[in-house]
Amino acid sequence: MNGKVTSISGATVCVDLADLKVGDRVFVGTNRLTGEVVRLDGTIATVQVFEENRGLGIGEPVISAQGPLTVRLGPGLLGGIFDGLQRPLPLLQKESGDFISSGQDPSSIDCSRSWDFSSDCKPGDRLRRGEAFGKVREGHIDHLLLASQDGILTQLHTGTLQLKQPAATLKGNQTLYGWHRWPVRKARPYRSKLPPTTPLITGQRCLDFLFPMLKGGVSIVPGGFGTGKTVLEQTIAKFADVDVVVYVGCGERGNEMAGLLDEFSELEDPRTNRPLMERTIIVANTSNMPVAARESSIFTAVSMAEYYRDMGLDVLFLADSLSRWAEALREISAALEEMPGEDGYPTYLGSRLSGFIERAGVVETLSGGQGSLSMILAVSPPGADFAEPVTQACLRVAGALYMLDTDLAHRRHFPAINWTQSFSLYSDTAMAHFIEQHGEWAALQARCRDILQREDALREVAEVVGMEGLQDADRLLMRTAEKIRLDFLCQNSFTDDAYSTPQNTIKHIAALTAEHDRLTAALDDGALLDDLLEKSRKEAGDAPL
Ligand SMILES: Nc1ncnc2c1ncn2[C@@H]1O[C@H](COP(=O)(O)OP(=O)(O)O)[C@@H](O)[C@H]1O
Ligand SMILES: [Mg+2]
Repeated sequence: MNGKVTSISGATVCVDLADLKVGDRVFVGTNRLTGEVVRLDGTIATVQVFEENRGLGIGEPVISAQGPLTVRLGPGLLGGIFDGLQRPLPLLQKESGDFISSGQDPSSIDCSRSWDFSSDCKPGDRLRRGEAFGKVREGHIDHLLLASQDGILTQLHTGTLQLKQPAATLKGNQTLYGWHRWPVRKARPYRSKLPPTTPLITGQRCLDFLFPMLKGGVSIVPGGFGTGKTVLEQTIAKFADVDVVVYVGCGERGNEMAGLLDEFSELEDPRTNRPLMERTIIVANTSNMPVAARESSIFTAVSMAEYYRDMGLDVLFLADSLSRWAEALREISAALEEMPGEDGYPTYLGSRLSGFIERAGVVETLSGGQGSLSMILAVSPPGADFAEPVTQACLRVAGALYMLDTDLAHRRHFPAINWTQSFSLYSDTAMAHFIEQHGEWAALQARCRDILQREDALREVAEVVGMEGLQDADRLLMRTAEKIRLDFLCQNSFTDDAYSTPQNTIKHIAALTAEHDRLTAALDDGALLDDLLEKSRKEAGDAPL
């Protein structure tokens, strides 16, 4: 059924079209711009247009897509770079140049690519929606093909498979393809949710040792401008021990995304020695792209992340930054003249945010496997004010907080994770796992925290009496704390030190505390700290205190 544009106000357009539902996708105008119905009043629908709509006029036609905004899910998404509507950016660029024109809809899935399809199923098997009925090899993973409906298998088209051909036939002559559509706003189903138990190794000493993350967990990374959110997210994207990474660049600078793409296409995944891009999906909605699509981009991305989770894989979802997403939400809400809540954000900011964050977790999949979806979400509070609504709303649902500190960043202590204000509720669970591998883990973590805390207290004393006024034991403690901060907690992402295995992390901190204990014992035996330090300096070319 066709309708017409009746009014336009920025990206918000009213259309006269019957039989729409809230959340339906519509194609607006002669350029067929993608929009989403956000409000209904009789036959007049308010539509949020996701693309640049300059040139759109009153009376232009509107067509209903007869359903909500969807993504296409199937093999070939890995290595893809998409916009917020899951349109492949390289294809768009080929068709319309560097500045993408509106109204294009190239498929996110290459339907003519051939895959080698194999299956353990046989005719007569009963399939339920969401269950795997075979697999193809996509890069380093077995990509399970998931049924888009229930039915009894009558035929399987194993062998060379193109996605435009049916992969299987069901009783009643219905067909299953190797791909299907999924409405982005709807969480994908699973059999049951399980508690997260396995650490997600990031390779960042500060995180893995002090504030561990779990597979299936959610952590947030709030930090002011220049505190290292982007570098941290990208470093984790490189090294995290997961099967698939979905990275959403949401409202951030375009050149940062370009840098990420260049780097990732050259780098290898240290676990599989295959190109890093092969395990990565990028959703880019940079600051120079339409704001409205930014709101949908994280839902597009999380749907793809859930899809790989449903194959029994460990998936990591990274967003940079959620604040830009919330700002898009605010802009849309203001255009709809909704009642504003705190700082102008809509009153449903919290529920919308938690609805999305709750899609993380460990699940038993519909095929009976176990998959996880973890989230590490950057937040950029204006003026580094952590009391603002977006940070607070995220905090309510996150299991770990990696707070980035402007002072540390100014001192070029990177990653600038504040070790007194950050926390991880996953610590105890992760610890149980780490202790199995490294018996000393818990004791060393407690020592490390204690030394850093005592340094804080001593620093205040030293400001009054000077370093010379401190006793030798206290000066030693300050020296060890400094080493922990500068050698252990600092980790430059642009050197070979960017990644540390848990084994090396624990060895490193164990060596620092062992040296501290050795020197303490010598002091107890009456030695002088300066003599001891002079001696170790000579032995190791160490820097003076
Ligand atoms: N882990 C790190 N190692 C080395 N340098 C870093 C690290 N994190 C941040 N930096 C430095 O800080 C700058 C700003 O970091 P960035 O991630 O862009 O900040 P934000 O995204 O919070 O605005 C980077 O360009 C880099 O020079
Ligand atoms: Mg940034």
